[in-house]
Amino acid sequence: MKSIKKAVIPAAGLGTRFLPATKSTPKEMLPVVDKPILFYVVEEAIAAGIEDIVIIAGRQKTSIEDFFDRSYELEDTLEKTGKTDLLETINSIRNMANIISVRQKQALGLGHAVYCSKPVVGDEPFAVLLGDEIMISEKGDPTVTQQLATNYDSSGLSSVAVMPVGASQVHKYGIVKPKSGATTEHAFEVESLVEKPTAEEAPSHFALPGRYIFDAQIFEHLKNAKPGKNNEIQLTDSMNLLAQNQGLMACPFKAKRYDAGDKLGYLMANVELALKHSELKDEFRDYLKTLAGQL
Ligand code: UTP
Repeated sequence: MKSIKKAVIPAAGLGTRFLPATKSTPKEMLPVVDKPILFYVVEEAIAAGIEDIVIIAGRQKTSIEDFFDRSYELEDTLEKTGKTDLLETINSIRNMANIISVRQKQALGLGHAVYCSKPVVGDEPFAVLLGDEIMISEKGDPTVTQQLATNYDSSGLSSVAVMPVGASQVHKYGIVKPKSGATTEHAFEVESLVEKPTAEEAPSHFALPGRYIFDAQIFEHLKNAKPGKNNEIQLTDSMNLLAQNQGLMACPFKAKRYDAGDKLGYLMANVELALKHSELKDEFRDYLKTLAGQL
């Protein structure tokens, strides 16, 4: 069994839910407390032992590339002013992993974004982490990508994260149909998937929040993929073929998940992660308590 050494992070969407903030900045570069959303995603991948990270970037990709590159003037100033802690943080970003940027020339859909990584990924199994989803595990617990990699290693099948959602939420997600009875306790085999169904159409309440490990066979399905729902090349259509032909497992996971590509999810991530931040947590908690008393 090949271990997972490559990850793809799609970050080329238009971010329309976050306009006008995303007109000239990719939403993945919006800060949550003091780090861009994308940085949390990269940290999760690295904690899972990923060595090569392929970032699929779109029109505004320079800010993403610059973030993972040297910044001579900044580094020189930090060194001269003795700000060694900050200098170390800045340097460590560059040395975290091999960051490879691939351009998706047009936002044709998530399936197309993943297909753009094929020349770099080749025929290895690989992880996909959506660039606008933050997953935080408890200290000492494996990250969601690690949890999927463990399932991939034991089952030999592509493995994707699933979480239970309410009937009013299914229209926002890809929803899986289990082969047989599914619970939130154990991984289960997927029969098929439906992209953003209505509550009536939904075959279960297990939704895909954006963490996947795929066998390279997914590229064969993506190669022939046609535009589907919303006229986009949908990843779920190719996952359906993967489920039918090679097999696909759905894995409930242990972690706190924030949909940081959505305004409410973004605000929740900022508040909750600020409450964990060593420099901010005490003052911020006091502030929130005072504020809550005024509401
Ligand atoms: P989303 O559907 O959340 O992103 O895609 P979006 O299209 O930017 O969102 P809205 O609805 O317009 O606000 C999930 C992830 O897939 C990437 C996005 O950048 C996001 O991280 N994506 C999506 C691509 O890289 N390319 C695409 O063509 C579509």
